Amino acid sequence: TAATLTIPVVVHVLYNTTAQNISDAQIASQIAVMNEDFQKLNADVSKTPSAFAGLAANVNIAFALAQRDPNGLATTGIERKSTTVTGWGTDDKMKSTTTGGLNAWNSGSYLNIWVCNLSGGILGYAQFPGGAASTDGIVIRTTAFGRNGSAAAPFNLGRTATHEVGHWLNLRHIWGDASCGNDLVSDTPTQQTSNTGCPAFPKRTCGNTTNGDMFMNFMDYTDDACMYMFSTGQSSRMNALFATGGARVSL
Ligand code: ARG
Ligand code: ZN
Ligand code: CA
Repeated sequence: TAATLTIPVVVHVLYNTTAQNISDAQIASQIAVMNEDFQKLNADVSKTPSAFAGLAANVNIAFALAQRDPNGLATTGIERKSTTVTGWGTDDKMKSTTTGGLNAWNSGSYLNIWVCNLSGGILGYAQFPGGAASTDGIVIRTTAFGRNGSAAAPFNLGRTATHEVGHWLNLRHIWGDASCGNDLVSDTPTQQTSNTGCPAFPKRTCGNTTNGDMFMNFMDYTDDACMYMFSTGQSSRMNALFATGGARVSL
């Protein structure tokens, strides 16, 4: 079996209200979810329909709050900053002190996670590999972060960060962001569009009359309780980033 890679994580918390200054326990719960989901240790993977169960993958990636900051000093891996900003957009302003946020730590050595009050109902967003280091990482709405504290149903099981880390590790949406589009992964069935809520198996689209959509995949848009697997092909695509010449080999 392949060795597990552990990625150091820094969580940048931006808060305008006391409630948005989430607890260390809420942050720990998010790290735990990511560890479970990327190592196929999540209990709900057992819900995978038998047609897809053989494709559910251990991605072999672990996450740990950083113990050293970029200067080599001891850290909790958590930074907190009070802000007058009541709602943030998807324009990366939370990623720089000059625009009221907190700067990224060296993205060659850390996964940067910003937690803030994203406005407009946005749960989170991510930067794909190959972008600017200063904005590299993922952003998660405070109420969709972790699985305790202020996390709110139906996005209260930490799967928004699992999904966004999937993008950060080069995964596309499972429907390929087009009608019967291509997600560049061969073992995920072609599906017509995003699924929401909690569909019943099988849901057949795009002429796929056997098993239909893999709507329980983390890269769909279903509720947190209804997504519980990455596929083997997705795992290979993510792990390719850490091989020689890969975009995240420095981790
Ligand atoms: N809408 C977001 C994106 O496209 C995240 C969706 C997360 N879904 C969830 N069930 N938590 O990146
Ligand atoms: Zn997405
Ligand atoms: Ca596919």
